Amino acid sequence: MMIGNKYWAKRGMSLDSALLEGNQINKEYLSKREEKKVDKEACKNEASRSTLMFALKNEVGGLVKALQIFQEKHISLVHIESRKSKRRDSEVEIFVDCNSTKEDFNELIQLLKAHSTIVSLNLMTSNWMEEEELSGVLWFPKKISELDKSSQRVLMYGSDLDADHPGFKDNVYRKRRKYFVDIAMNYKIGQPIPRVEYMEEEIRTWGMVYRELTKLYPTHACQEYLKNFPLLTKHCGYREDNIPQLEDVSAFLKERTGFVLRPVAGYLSPRDFLAGLAFRVFHCTQYLRHGSDPFYTPEPDTCHELLGHVPLLAEPSFAEFSQELGLVSLTAGDEDVQKLATCYFFTVEFGLCKQEGQLRAYGAGLLSSIGELKHALSDKAIIKPFDPKTTCTQECLITTFQEAYFLSESFEEAKEKMREFAKSVKRPFIVHYDPYTQSIEMLKDTRSIEKVVQGIRSDLAIVCDTLSKMNKYFGI
Ligand SMILES: [Fe+2]
Repeated sequence: MMIGNKYWAKRGMSLDSALLEGNQINKEYLSKREEKKVDKEACKNEASRSTLMFALKNEVGGLVKALQIFQEKHISLVHIESRKSKRRDSEVEIFVDCNSTKEDFNELIQLLKAHSTIVSLNLMTSNWMEEEELSGVLWFPKKISELDKSSQRVLMYGSDLDADHPGFKDNVYRKRRKYFVDIAMNYKIGQPIPRVEYMEEEIRTWGMVYRELTKLYPTHACQEYLKNFPLLTKHCGYREDNIPQLEDVSAFLKERTGFVLRPVAGYLSPRDFLAGLAFRVFHCTQYLRHGSDPFYTPEPDTCHELLGHVPLLAEPSFAEFSQELGLVSLTAGDEDVQKLATCYFFTVEFGLCKQEGQLRAYGAGLLSSIGELKHALSDKAIIKPFDPKTTCTQECLITTFQEAYFLSESFEEAKEKMREFAKSVKRPFIVHYDPYTQSIEMLKDTRSIEKVVQGIRSDLAIVCDTLSKMNKYFGI
């Protein structure tokens, strides 16, 4: 066993610390924007749906003149509505849903702007115009399959190891890492995750970490973790002499909370990592840390993911908390994504809670690090109440234990606080996740909001029906 070695003072896991790599992320975005320019050029002659609203002076013939512009540009109207302006009695507002090519639509906008009776113009949605053009929002995945693009944008590690990585000089280890990189890079959402035949040394490394951590869990892990861990032993082969297969774990999580695992080759940017959570997709490494030092790794490995993250991802309230964090990040600016990433770091990675008067860990960084798990629950640790407004300013440390840990009474409480905090995040529009189509809906107009309301109505009808039956049969 390597307990007490030179790395013991280090916290043992640096995890998703790429959440801090701001500069590299910006480069990614710039290159993404360049790709998008090419895409946009290719589709400029394709007809697509667009929605706009304009205000007209309330005078005879004003609407006819405005609609003539649509006719001149051969733009077909799919839907049109008018209403009296709430701002000024002298104006009327027109909402138009139309079909056009990009070129025709751009010309239409110019003509409408120049029209003497139109006093304001508001583009609401346009399928082929990028969101950043409309509202300053960067590209984000709208469908679960689009995570295949962002999942490959690995910023650090992958097959290239730094000179101070324990496996840097080990050619066998580097070759093995290349094998895992290939699995992750060729993987597509929805496919089964390839099963890995782990080598003896890898199983030995896993076994040492597993043995030491499982001794601590009964006194250090939160109740939800302790409840779910035996289920993973039963259904996914969590054992000291067996490294569970991601495919089995993913299938188990899918049944419990709808979360699935997706193999990833190394660190992702905060934006790409959080975007996965919005779809209940958890980017998960499949490789093992270097066997020379089982209690230290400079990056997340499968010990960290399977022992630290997975038991909590099987908990519905925690899964919901994680997804909500991801959803807020999608349309947030870089500065706010950084704040969200810091909140993620001090909750999902290093969070503490109090249960029956006892301090317990729920953060994966703690639950997969023997040294820091003991430290965080000792009287040496500084513990502050979790409050996203202040937590987001705390420095995330990578090579040492955290200077402070943040305490939540429950996941429900953490979720409520994050919801409150989300209101302060500047977002041009709110998004909603549709679990049936596994896609993101942008709530920008009355039609999209109505769709969400329909879903709520349908759920409420079920609740009302149930209450009515309970009332009838049980008198409740
Ligand atoms: Fe992690």
